Order: sequence, then structure tokens, then C-alpha cells
Amino acid sequence: MAKPILISGIQSDGRLHLGNYLGAIKNFVELQNSNKYDCYFFIADYHSLTVDFNPEEKKNQVYDVVKAYLAAGIDPKKSTIFIQSHVPESTELAWVFNTLMPVGELERMTQFKDKMENKKSVNTGLLTYPLLMAADILIYNAKFVPVGDDQLQHLELTRSTARKFNSKFGETFIEPEAVLTKASRVMSLNDPEKKMSKSRPITCLFLDDSEKDIEKKIKRSVTDSGSEVKYNLKNKAGLSNLLSIYEALSEKSIKEIEEKYKGKGYGDFKSDLISLVAEKLKPFREFKTGEEKLNEIIRAGDIKAKKMASKKMREIKDKIGLI
Ligand code: ADP
Ligand code: TRP
Repeated sequence: MAKPILISGIQSDGRLHLGNYLGAIKNFVELQNSNKYDCYFFIADYHSLTVDFNPEEKKNQVYDVVKAYLAAGIDPKKSTIFIQSHVPESTELAWVFNTLMPVGELERMTQFKDKMENKKSVNTGLLTYPLLMAADILIYNAKFVPVGDDQLQHLELTRSTARKFNSKFGETFIEPEAVLTKASRVMSLNDPEKKMSKSRPITCLFLDDSEKDIEKKIKRSVTDSGSEVKYNLKNKAGLSNLLSIYEALSEKSIKEIEEKYKGKGYGDFKSDLISLVAEKLKPFREFKTGEEKLNEIIRAGDIKAKKMASKKMREIKDKIGLI
């Protein structure tokens, strides 16, 4: 029997960071290696146009995501890696979804509201962004979507888009489910109330940060008062975030880590965390593959994705009544 389809994408809008890795990419690799799914991982380059960018940097940003996928262990022999804009059918489908979805439902999206904050106006792509995401998922008949928890609302919207279409035009789409990781929300190193994000670079651990930068950033991270290495989200939010990072990278439980640092202070814990992060991010720092090889991988993935998407788009057009 065919395996269920699993899909996810990451925007090519800047350097990837530990939040992207622990919240998304690391999980992609584990899911791929479970051999339970037919996996598709793409680079959401059209989504990345919704934020300011320099056209001269765009190409490298796209390749950077492909490289991060490969460095993390996504294997093009097992998973399909492709570029969103190379399969224009999903953008066509997003247009169809635009005609089904009331504006109000998009205006309620937290990510949209955050991006609107303190701005008089934003581009329309930021508003309709979740419909392109819905199309990215639904056009491949995907059943599972691994994402960080900030994307759950968009996934819910994807499900309601599928329901709207199905009820108007007949059963066409599967309602996909999210697959979350344990570290589905890595917080900023200096402000544990906010998620780690490339928009706050000094408090964000980038996957290609030098060992020196890793050391500097972790040394400077906030760890609250006290000295006991103990998980306590309410009173020790900063330290708890570091403990979660340690847990996710070491595969040790929080309990085991607390035990290990009993009687020792934050200093010992931080210095081991620095070594652990530096070691785990080494493959990203050292990854080297030429553009030619990357293009070869992308081309093979594009062909496979395109074949599925064009078949599905035909089915969709038939349901709607388009010639
Ligand atoms: P950013 O917030 O830095 O712009 P993206 O929105 O491009 O990152 O996120 C890409 C993927 O990484 C998504 O699946 C998202 O859920 C996940 N992700 C982003 N930031 C974090 C974080 N701090 N913790 C956990 N997962 C995250
Ligand atoms: N919106 C996602 C993000 O910001 C990226 C994305 C686009 C995506 N299309 C998708 C994720 C489809 C999962 C499935 O991270």
C-alpha cells in the first residue's frame, strides 16, 4: 500500500536558526528515517517575497535552505526536495482558494496581525499567505505536516479551506494533520517571552554561526536569579529554554540533565551547552556542495512534485467546471 504523504516547507527569507532546526528540520529527518511516509520538503520561495528582500541575495537564500535540508540529513534518495515556484500549480490553486475564503478569516490570523502591528499598510501577500500554504499542502494530498507550533493556526485554516472546497465542489482534498516536535517553540536567548527568530539576530543561534558566536550568545543568554539548574517555566523561563534546547540536542531527558548538574552552577551547564550546540551545528557550518549538484537534486524533485500537482490541478479544474 502507498505510504501517506507528508509535506513541509521553509521560507527562503534569511539565515536558518536553531528554532527552525529543532521546531521543524530535525523532525523532518526523523520522519523521513521512520520510513512510514512519502516525504516532500520544499523551499517556500514565493512565500519569502512577502517580506523585504534584496534580489541579489535571493538565489543564495534559496540554496541555503536546500543546503540546510541536506546538512541536517534529508536524503534526496528518500525524500523529494523541490522549489515552490517551480511548481506553479500550487500558486494557481491558491487563487482558487482566494475566491472561497472570506477576508475576515485571514485577517484573524495571529501571524498577519503581528506583521500588521505598528504599520499603516502591508502587502496583500501577507494576508493571503496562508492560502498559498494551504495550496502547497492540499495539492499533494498530504496527510501529515510537520511544523513548529506557530504554524498551527495556518494548518487549521488549511483544514477549513479543504472543507469549504469539498462541500462546494465535492470530496477533493484530505484534511491534513500537524506533526509537532517536543521543542516546537524555541525561545529567544535574551527574552524567553518571545520566540527565537531571525528578526532578533543577537539572541538567535543561526545554524551557520561560528563557534565563537555560539559561545558569545549562550554566555550572554539570560538565566534568571538563583543558581540551581532546574526546569521551571514560570520562575526560570530563560534557564528552562536552555534546558529544552539541551534536551532536544542531547536526547537526554530534562530529569537526567538536572541530575547531571546537581550541585553545579549555571556556568558549568552553559559551558557544556556551548560545546553541545557547537558540535550539533557542525554539519551546517561545514556543509559544502556546489550549485550544480544542488540543481540536480532540485530538478529531480521538481519533476516528481510537478507531476503530482498537475494531475491534482486537472482534477480540481474539472470539479470547478473549468475547461
Ligand atoms: P522565522 O520565525 O525565524 O521567520 P519561519 O517562519 O521561516 O521562521 O519558520 C520556519 C519553520 O521553523 C516553521 O515550521 C516554524 O514553525 C519553525 N520555527 C520558526 N521559529 C521557531 C522557533 N523559535 N521555535 C520552534 N520552531 C520554529
Ligand atoms: N508558512 C511556513 C513558515 O513560515 C512555510 C510554509 C509554506 C509551509 N508552505 C507550507 C509549511 C506548507 C508547511 C507546509 O514556516
